[in-house]
Amino acid sequence: MNDDDLTRLNEILRPVARPQVLDGVYSDDQHARMLDVVKRNGPWKTITANHFDTVEELMATSNGGVPDNFDLTLDDMATGHFRGRFAEDSVCYYTELEDCFFNTHFLDLTRSYWGAQYARPQRMLFNLCGPHHSGLNAHLDAVTFRGIRIENSPVWLQNVMGRSGLFTEHLVKMAQVITRWYLGENGTFTYWPDGPAGQPVRLEHPLWNKGVVVQNEMMFHRGDPVGRPDERDIPGLRHRSVIGYDTEHDDWAITTDVEVIRRYRPEEMRLLVHWSAEVFQDLDEVKKNMDHSDDLTQDVVFERLLADMHARGIEVDDPSDPLHDRDFIRALVATYSIKPTTDWATPNAA
Ligand SMILES: [Fe+2]
Repeated sequence: MNDDDLTRLNEILRPVARPQVLDGVYSDDQHARMLDVVKRNGPWKTITANHFDTVEELMATSNGGVPDNFDLTLDDMATGHFRGRFAEDSVCYYTELEDCFFNTHFLDLTRSYWGAQYARPQRMLFNLCGPHHSGLNAHLDAVTFRGIRIENSPVWLQNVMGRSGLFTEHLVKMAQVITRWYLGENGTFTYWPDGPAGQPVRLEHPLWNKGVVVQNEMMFHRGDPVGRPDERDIPGLRHRSVIGYDTEHDDWAITTDVEVIRRYRPEEMRLLVHWSAEVFQDLDEVKKNMDHSDDLTQDVVFERLLADMHARGIEVDDPSDPLHDRDFIRALVATYSIKPTTDWATPNAA
């Protein structure tokens, strides 16, 4: 990627407006009901096990590619961070959380964040963890395009499309309200509101019922490592490990197969709730989404990506099964790899 590409992508990969920090996001009662659903409906898979079947797919979503001479497995990359879903595709799976999901206040926030007329709740996820090791790589959330969405396409493809900047006119506007409850150390949130070459900002403690309105699919961000470094080890953690609430002990247990490999006291846990809405500038945009007159197809997407790679002089064979072709996915990652060049600890350039 040359300097012109970087400059162009630094303009594209930034949110429509600066993130808005919120305090007291949910009521105590809503928090208690969400936590209760998490306790009663586990165990929950790791975030990566929710979304990725191969290392290539995982790396296409973060950054940097996969070293050719080093045979990493998903077990090598497993982290003790778990995910579940309260709602997907505008359907709330738990009636007791419908007031949290169909949230008029959040819809107001997201409409005004975009300066748009309409919005609808789209998804609601939670991330759950205690102290654990995690990297410092920033990422973008799955980007939604008309026709290419989480419901029909893998996350890595959505992200490659987002980072390529080739499909911006098909972008579905989105905004999220992301809220944390955490009493332990570290576990802050770092984000790049001025693009990957701009200075990052950190959402600081206290992180109890504290939220931020963001456009996370177009703004690099990361959850900073949770807990003290000396309490982050989880020996025996695997891609297939799960976490669940243990009523008998009143604690949270990570298990690999049936063996408990780590327990956390309730006060060690961090809960993050990720609410996401689709936003429509006006009625025309609502209709365009509803009637699918402006939808991309995967065939068109792969054609455009291949043509762009060929135009850049990149040698890549036409894949027969592009969704699962490891060489093709590696080529896409290498071509459209961009990540922040700054960090909050990095001094401003003179
Ligand atoms: Fe994210």
